[in-house]
Amino acid sequence: MAIPSQSPILGVLGGGQLGRMLIQSAINYNQDIHILDPDPNAPCKDLSQRFTVGSLKDFDTVYAFGHGCDVITVEIESVNTEALEKLQREGKKVYPQPDILSLIKDKRKQKQFYQLNGIPTADFILTSDKAEVIHHADFLPAVNKLGKEGYDGRGVQVLRSEADLDKAFDAPGLLEKLIDFDKEIAVTVARNEAGDLIAYPAVECAFHPTANLVEFLFAPAEISKEVAEKAEEIAKDVILKLGMVGILAVEMFVTKDGEVLVNEVAPRPHNSGHHTIEANYTSQFEQHLRSVMNWPLGNPDLRCPAAMINLLGENGFTGPVLVEGQEEALAEQGVYIHLYGKKITKPFRKMGHVTVVSDTVAGLKEKAQRIKELIKIKSIS
Ligand SMILES: Nc1ncnc2c1ncn2[C@@H]1O[C@H](COP(=O)(O)OP(=O)(O)OP(=O)(O)O)[C@@H](O)[C@H]1O
Ligand SMILES: [Mg+2]
Repeated sequence: MAIPSQSPILGVLGGGQLGRMLIQSAINYNQDIHILDPDPNAPCKDLSQRFTVGSLKDFDTVYAFGHGCDVITVEIESVNTEALEKLQREGKKVYPQPDILSLIKDKRKQKQFYQLNGIPTADFILTSDKAEVIHHADFLPAVNKLGKEGYDGRGVQVLRSEADLDKAFDAPGLLEKLIDFDKEIAVTVARNEAGDLIAYPAVECAFHPTANLVEFLFAPAEISKEVAEKAEEIAKDVILKLGMVGILAVEMFVTKDGEVLVNEVAPRPHNSGHHTIEANYTSQFEQHLRSVMNWPLGNPDLRCPAAMINLLGENGFTGPVLVEGQEEALAEQGVYIHLYGKKITKPFRKMGHVTVVSDTVAGLKEKAQRIKELIKIKSIS
């Protein structure tokens, strides 16, 4: 099948860094992209064939935007799914499908889905408010999660003992058993309309030794072949049981006895796949494009070991961006810097990332650490 040079228009809800890197891939295929984002200065501004400023949560805005597109996808889950359902009923292709988006954007529904479908996940109880969490004190140590609108760890609260109960969320959420995991890994899978299915090799999230923050991402994950196969099988099982078209990042815990449990999924390109731009035969962004446009999927294999570092706004700086250490970092081979073009930096805001590639795993961690210490996102004011 020839891919027509005048291909259908792809509409993307959200114009942040994920949309921006999707556009970078789309340019190679002369694939037009329209973007909707509430922020007039979003990272995709000026880069798409059409950039519309508007709410992703408003029915009329999302519907009107989608009406002008042929295929609609997302780079964020919190969007108006009712409008997407109407667009789908009217014949637009919406991937990931709206009902799957509704399920995923509510962690309560997501966990129930795993339970119903026999997908291994930490035990949990649904809670409607703080009083109910307190009532289940015997379930601690646990993690209290908000049902909706949590991201980047906001909306997640570890409750180790009764003394922590005061931190419980007073909103619908869930209480999940605290897993004493050995590693956190992620496997990205993609599926197109034709049913082709691929899985990326597992990546490992390395935590800061003291702060509870993901500091680096390493590919491949240092796990046994057995665990890697189990993780791939589970990730494929999730996308198949969802019946989803598009790309799906599956975050998992590997327990100390080698069990693999699904934490949560993201139905879009994800932070855990940024290294694929340089380190894999097909980047997650190109794969997302291929899957939602129903093109043949690309080879997901790793070309070389890689590390990914998030460039977060330095604490204590808010305002126009100043990047420190860029030239020094570029003087090292195998270092690729991605700046997202956000106008204003704030403490811990995701401002960019760096991928470090290497021929061997040896020395990669040290090199990533060195680069992390070199590049700082500060502000000129
Ligand atoms: N049941 C659990 N046991 C132990 N740690 C957990 C558990 N659930 C979550 N965590 C820790 O909290 C982190 C954030 O949780 P989760 O991924 O559910 O939230 P999130 O807000 O969607 O985060 P992000 O957007 O960064 O993925 C996890 O990456 C993990 O380190
Ligand atoms: Mg997560």
